[in-house]
Amino acid sequence: MEFFDVVKKRRSIRKFQEKEVPREYIEKILEAAFYSPSSRNRRPWHFVVVDDRALIKALAKTRPALRFLETAPLAIVVCGDESISSAWVFDASIAAEHIQLAAAALGLGACWGHVLDRAHNEKKSAEEYIRELLGIPEHIRILCVIGIGYPAEKKEEHKKDEVMRDRIHFNRF
Ligand SMILES: Cc1cc2nc3c(=O)[nH]c(=O)nc-3n(C[C@H](O)[C@H](O)[C@H](O)COP(=O)(O)O)c2cc1C
Repeated sequence: MEFFDVVKKRRSIRKFQEKEVPREYIEKILEAAFYSPSSRNRRPWHFVVVDDRALIKALAKTRPALRFLETAPLAIVVCGDESISSAWVFDASIAAEHIQLAAAALGLGACWGHVLDRAHNEKKSAEEYIRELLGIPEHIRILCVIGIGYPAEKKEEHKKDEVMRDRIHFNRF
C-alpha cells in the first residue's frame, strides 16, 4: 500500500477477530519499529510481544482505557531504556506509530493503549502493574501497549476536511 493510503486508512481499531496474526506479519511490524528515528540514534527501544491469551487479558485490566485489548490476539508493549536515553518517550512514541502504520499497511487494525503516567488503581501506577505482570526491569520504562489484530469493526478512512488549515502557519505564526 502506498504511504498516503496507509496514513489515511490507519484508524484506531479496538475490536478484533479471533484470527491470529501470522508470525511473518509480527516480524514485519517489528522490523518497521526498528526503522524509527531516535534521538542521537541511541535506539533505546524494547518491545514485549505478547500473544499469550491470559497475559493479554491481564494487560486489558491495566486501566479502563486498555479494556479494548480483551479481544486482541496480539499486544506489543512499547518500552524505552531510560538509562540509554532521556529522550526515550519521544523515541518510543515514534516506534509506536511505526507499529500502527505497519499494521495498517498489512490490513490489520491496531490501537494505542496508554500506560505512562496513568494509574492502575489508587496504590499502583499502570506502569508498575505491567512491570510486575511481565517482569520488566526498573530501568526499562513503559510507554504504551499496542493491541493488534484483524479488525472486527469498520471505520471510515481519514478525510481531507480533517486538515486544520488555521493551525498551519507559514514563516511566522
Ligand atoms: C498518546 C496517545 C494515547 C492514546 N491512548 C489511548 C488509550 O489509552 N486507549 C484507547 O482506546 N485509545 C488511545 N489512543 C487512541 C486515540 O484515542 C485515537 O488515536 C484518536 O481518537 C484518533 O482516532 P484514530 O486513531 O482512529 O485516527 C491514544 C492515542 C495516542 C496518540
